[in-house]
Amino acid sequence: MVGVRGLEPPAPWSQTRYANQTALHPVALKRELFFEILKNHPCMWSGIICKNFYFVKSFCIILLKKLGFVMKISRFSRIGFILATAGSAVGLGNIWKFPYMTGEYGGGAFVLTYLITILLIGFAVLVAEITIGALGRLDTVSSFEKLSNNKNWKYAGFMGMNGLIIMIFYSVVIGWILHYIFSSIFYGLPENIQTAQDKFSNLIANEVGIQILWHTIATFIVLYFVHKGIKQGIEKLNIILMPSLIIILLGMLIYSMNLDGFAKSINFMFSPDWSKIDSDVIIRAIGHAFFTLSLGMGAIMTYSASLPKHINITKTALIVTFMDTIIALIAGLMIFAFLFEFGESPSKGPGLVFISMPVIFAQLGYMGIFFALIFFLALAFAGLTSAVSLVEPSVQYLITRLKISRLRATVFSGIFYYILGLSALLSYTSSWGEIFSISGTPLFDIYEFTTDSILLPLGGILMAIFVGYVLPKDQVKKLLSDEMGKYYPIWRFSIKFIAPISIFIMMLSLIGIL
Ligand code: PFF
Repeated sequence: MVGVRGLEPPAPWSQTRYANQTALHPVALKRELFFEILKNHPCMWSGIICKNFYFVKSFCIILLKKLGFVMKISRFSRIGFILATAGSAVGLGNIWKFPYMTGEYGGGAFVLTYLITILLIGFAVLVAEITIGALGRLDTVSSFEKLSNNKNWKYAGFMGMNGLIIMIFYSVVIGWILHYIFSSIFYGLPENIQTAQDKFSNLIANEVGIQILWHTIATFIVLYFVHKGIKQGIEKLNIILMPSLIIILLGMLIYSMNLDGFAKSINFMFSPDWSKIDSDVIIRAIGHAFFTLSLGMGAIMTYSASLPKHINITKTALIVTFMDTIIALIAGLMIFAFLFEFGESPSKGPGLVFISMPVIFAQLGYMGIFFALIFFLALAFAGLTSAVSLVEPSVQYLITRLKISRLRATVFSGIFYYILGLSALLSYTSSWGEIFSISGTPLFDIYEFTTDSILLPLGGILMAIFVGYVLPKDQVKKLLSDEMGKYYPIWRFSIKFIAPISIFIMMLSLIGIL
């Protein structure tokens, strides 16, 4: 229940915390004051209200809910929470971005750095993010505010808004995917790489109207599910799409295993060429680890505010990390197997899956259209389940803090990213590209780089510091030590030292100090 926060008794932990300090929580203080005034009020009603406080409170809440003034955060079911969190993590980052970045940043060297980051930092920060959400149980800003004495921490909560910045380019890419589903069915597949290259370049450089149309459709689909809420929208979407995505990818992996290119694919992804590891590869791999696990932005924290009771946080984080990593590896292995089978180059940048995959599918005859369709469907499913998690933190913030309805909050958030999405979209076009670029870099690339390599890691540092140093040690221990057993000290060491220090070093090297 949110919206009437002032009426709730403070959480048990905060009572002991404030009792030790012989001071009252500001909310409790206000309530005491209110009762004092009411008790001394001469009217007979004031006495009755005081005596029946909890009865009156429940009655008012029910009334306010019925009238639609109080928003209720419904809770995920257990499986719903795991699938929604995995759905947030498994996205375009796994099937679109991971393969093209692996292709661009040296194959195995990139994969290895990414895997190490996931293991040493990603998992620990994921647990930290769920922990803040589970203890705060509010939107990102209010959770930080509620859990710390220093009110400045609430500014860390504004990281939740970064999701809308990611959505600026994410929605454009979902639009491309929807366009490819449509055009594979109605216009068939390009026969050779040149035609495919021309088709993709033409789409992003010249087809402004078509891109806007699909960006608009993508926006509507995402906003529809977000406005339906946690249980009816987000949980339902994930429960249907996530298993479908896994089945499609496994089917395609099994098919690709029979290709000769599969051995080359394994070799490309798992035998690192050490000479290729440089600071650029490391920065991009760490950034990608954050992006792919949906870390440092408050998406997972927002979902965790609706965590079902009695869920094992560590186990959930393990399942999500495992699923996300395995799906990225499956997508990579499958895509590179097809690429090497047909002699294509893996370094094609963001166009990789849009240029190479359709040509490859075209070589498979009639089956090709089917493969293309399910491949782009899988991409769309992955994109949509992540997109809802990118919008939800801002929506939750607007609902809780501005007390507006979910529909309004969804529309405001949608308008914001939809309009800026146009600038990302136009930045790749030939007629508008120059206007929507900064020093020759298209805004699309700027939004992408700023979020995944700067804002998400920065959010990750803040979360690690918050859980490692600000939250009371005992409170975190109580929540996690039984679940983690003897691994708890390792996790704590990682969250206090390894995660913040390594992200800090990465940031220094990013701004050129190292
Ligand atoms: N993890 C998503 C992906 O791999 O596509 C992207 C993402 C979702 C990033 C949610 C950050 C986030 F908070």
